[in-house]
Amino acid sequence: MERDLLADAPLLASWQSYSSRAVTPFTIPGHKGAASLLWPVLASVLAGDVPLYGGLDSVKLAAGVLADAEARAASLWGADWCRFSTGGSTHANQALALAIGRPGDEVLVSRSAHRSTLLGLVLAGLTPVWLPTEVDDRLGVPVGVTEAALRSALDAHPAGRAVFLVEPSYLGAVSDLPALVALAHNAGLPILVDQAWGAHFGFHPAFPAHALAQGADALVTSAHKTLPAYSQASLVLARTARLDAHRLERAFEAANTTSPAGSILASTDGARALLAARGHELLGSLVPIVAEARTRLRAVAGVQVPGPEDFPPGRFDPAKLVVVLAGSGASGIDVEQDLLSLGVPVEMADQDMVVPIVTLADTEQTVARLVDVLTAAIGRRSGAPRYLGAAAQWGTSAMAAMTPRDAFFADHVTVDAAAAVGRICAEVVAPYPPGVPVLVPGEVVTAEAVRSLRAALAAGTRVAYAADSTLRTLQVVARELPLESAP
Ligand SMILES: Cc1ncc(COP(=O)(O)O)c(C=O)c1O
Repeated sequence: MERDLLADAPLLASWQSYSSRAVTPFTIPGHKGAASLLWPVLASVLAGDVPLYGGLDSVKLAAGVLADAEARAASLWGADWCRFSTGGSTHANQALALAIGRPGDEVLVSRSAHRSTLLGLVLAGLTPVWLPTEVDDRLGVPVGVTEAALRSALDAHPAGRAVFLVEPSYLGAVSDLPALVALAHNAGLPILVDQAWGAHFGFHPAFPAHALAQGADALVTSAHKTLPAYSQASLVLARTARLDAHRLERAFEAANTTSPAGSILASTDGARALLAARGHELLGSLVPIVAEARTRLRAVAGVQVPGPEDFPPGRFDPAKLVVVLAGSGASGIDVEQDLLSLGVPVEMADQDMVVPIVTLADTEQTVARLVDVLTAAIGRRSGAPRYLGAAAQWGTSAMAAMTPRDAFFADHVTVDAAAAVGRICAEVVAPYPPGVPVLVPGEVVTAEAVRSLRAALAAGTRVAYAADSTLRTLQVVARELPLESAP
């Protein structure tokens, strides 16, 4: 089994063979696999670090193992172009933005896009036409971009060059992708999907099909999020009928490191080989484990846990666990503290939600322990039920007064947050996780955005990327809006 898997994982096999060979390298990295002479603990953190150039392959890439591994991934996802990134889906999303149109061109973008897509628009000089995300008020989770929203944006912006979506959202729901793909393609536009949280999609019928299988033209996914791969491991996959493969290649290389960590690449390759060989079996085992966790958590007073049955078929990730706490009165931030003290960290916790990430590396036992400690913590922290409002980042809408790129490079001033209302924002401000910006460069700051961000901060959420992390002040564009255009 082990040998069969390695035979389908050229980069992982190279990593194994390099690691077991005696070499005296005169190449980078400078630790040369010999740092134990310098500092043993430093050597332990460097153990396993093998470069691509001069490690997994020769400096001249004579063996072509990276190209081989990328071709195998392309074939698994039904793509005709694939690159492995060691810069996360952040680099991958920015590569896609750089692959589209020219500076000044309009693109239709989900307003729930991750900040990496937004910064991709800044880099590429693309002008976003925001597509609002529909939110399920009962569960407080975004359900996606509707056909009506895309149709009206396409009608209003016939010069649009591409559609950028995030599927699934951070909280597990997927838009009706085939319908959106049909609309975009009818209008002659490629549809590019940030599927960072869906690397496991499409390998078992209980899961949504992956974006390429649903007709999208490109897909970005973080292997490190839901697959057993190194942090920063990500893939970009494309079908190039509506995209220019040479341009994609240039765009990918624009911000690609010239010294990729071979260990990250080998882990992407290994995770892909594992998914190909055992994905169906492993995902099939995961579904009942998460379903059981959902059933147990739903039995806790006031707790809601959205699941696939709350959405149309194929529109929710059955491995996603979103624990909505508003009705229990417990604060997710307090619950997280209790979990941390027990050595059970979770990916996201804010006032109303806790989002533990469950993956193929979990077992019945690990998930049962999570549910035990979560149930006890919610019981300890419960109180008067709260009204569940959608978190600040979902359902944001604001008037754009400048493009993100113009605002990013404009002269800016720092003003009191209250005085920022009605001014053009110069910075990205996003509760993290999930890193979906509430304030976007170029948009007019609204009182509601400031209020909701400050409320999130006061409740204990980390609000990232703002120059002033206390949010007492904000950075706005120095030029003020003419009075008649202020909201
Ligand atoms: C939707 C989405 N896209 C992209 C990213 C960036 O991924 P990475 O951490 O692999 O750079 C994230 C990170 O959380 C994300 O949630």
